[in-house]
Amino acid sequence: MSGARESVHGMWSGRFAFILAATGAAVGLGNIWKFPYIMGENGGGAFVLVYLLCIVLIGIPVMMSEVLIGRRGRQSPGLSVKTLAQEASASPRWQVAGWSGLLASYLILSFYAVVAGWALAYVMKTARGDFQGQSADVIGAQFGAHLADPWALMAWSAVILLVTVLVVGKGVHKGLEKAVNFLMPSLFVLLGIMAIYSATNGAFGEALAFMFTPDFSKLTINGVLLALGHAFFTLSLASGAMIIYGAYLPSNVSIAKTSVLIALVDTAVAMLAGLAIYPLVFQYGLTPAEGPGLIFVTLPIAFGSMPFGTFFGTLFFVMLVFAAFTSAIAMIESTVAWLVERKGLNRMVATAATGGSLWLLGLLTVFSFSGASWATFELNIFGKPITSFFEVVDYLTSSVMLPLGGLVVAIFTGWVMTKKVTEEELQTSGLVYGIWRFAIRWFTPIAVSIVFLHLIGVLEPVLRLVGL
Ligand code: PHE
Repeated sequence: MSGARESVHGMWSGRFAFILAATGAAVGLGNIWKFPYIMGENGGGAFVLVYLLCIVLIGIPVMMSEVLIGRRGRQSPGLSVKTLAQEASASPRWQVAGWSGLLASYLILSFYAVVAGWALAYVMKTARGDFQGQSADVIGAQFGAHLADPWALMAWSAVILLVTVLVVGKGVHKGLEKAVNFLMPSLFVLLGIMAIYSATNGAFGEALAFMFTPDFSKLTINGVLLALGHAFFTLSLASGAMIIYGAYLPSNVSIAKTSVLIALVDTAVAMLAGLAIYPLVFQYGLTPAEGPGLIFVTLPIAFGSMPFGTFFGTLFFVMLVFAAFTSAIAMIESTVAWLVERKGLNRMVATAATGGSLWLLGLLTVFSFSGASWATFELNIFGKPITSFFEVVDYLTSSVMLPLGGLVVAIFTGWVMTKKVTEEELQTSGLVYGIWRFAIRWFTPIAVSIVFLHLIGVLEPVLRLVGL
């Protein structure tokens, strides 16, 4: 049983701590910042539908696989997968499933910290009353001016990384667990208040229609890939996070039940965020395809004119910072754990070194948004226009590394690890186990492959070849 190995980093104090930490990892900028704007750019309802299907059919099974790998391996992602490959007498090369996750988290955090920095800056701006009584145009211009100031972006992202380092450096129990215990409950309350406000004051009917009426003519293959990649991103899959958090999970907790719960909460938050934001988008005649600035432009308009707007606005951005923060600690943890395990570094030193290097890498994102000429260009990758380093890193991680990483995780737990071991670790009913195993062995690999083959234009020739 998994109890045979122990984590050198400590453990969650129990099931509830794991649930909070893992929902903390899952719920983040992906739900509140990214989901609403990519849904807007990809036509709404049809995108939402594909995204929901990906969460249920692929996301939950892959999450179970990752928590299982972590709990059985009890080490950082690469080393956990390596240990389990050895246990199954398979090639140690499978460890790539773990390392690609660690790398993806690292890359994502480089831009994530910058965007979390915007949220932090917006806490100050809202609290100072910058948006009070301002028109939509002025508020849009304020966001533009914020992006155009690389010094500000660098400073705010440094603050985010610094706090992340200070908390993660303290360890699993005293750092990570303490932070999520306080942050997650506050987040749910705040988001609920925001959604109720928007629903009662904004164009709620239009928002509902936009989010839940699927119009497939608006969905491209890139949109489908994005929905798939975002399902991985939002659940923190293929990024090492669920493996490393699983490594700290006590042996007697049900992996299946907790995974379903985490996915449910994550999805509920994404939907609530959509319902908080889109009524205002339509109310103020803004465009859903606004892009990464969507929440930083729409919500301040509402805060600027609603009663107690300064108060609620400040709370909202505080909440966004909390959500980003509990994800940031999940993203940095795999690298830190590995540096401690293999390089024997002191935890605080490992965390500080990782944070410092991330800040430097984040400069690519900072200058992408400030529009520096060296950071902006025009590329076309499989029909998707890419115009800056930020978009390169975002596309490479969310649309390429995460789905492919998830594919390898699925194949590893479905085909390489023995049935005996996975059964023992999941400890669930025969039916649930059967569904998981089918999803991991067949559905996920086939679905992810189809999307990629179609994207690179070889699906049709392959189908013809096999006579379909
Ligand atoms: N799930 C987080 C979000 O939606 C992002 C994340 C990705 C966190 C990978 C950890 C690891 O914002």
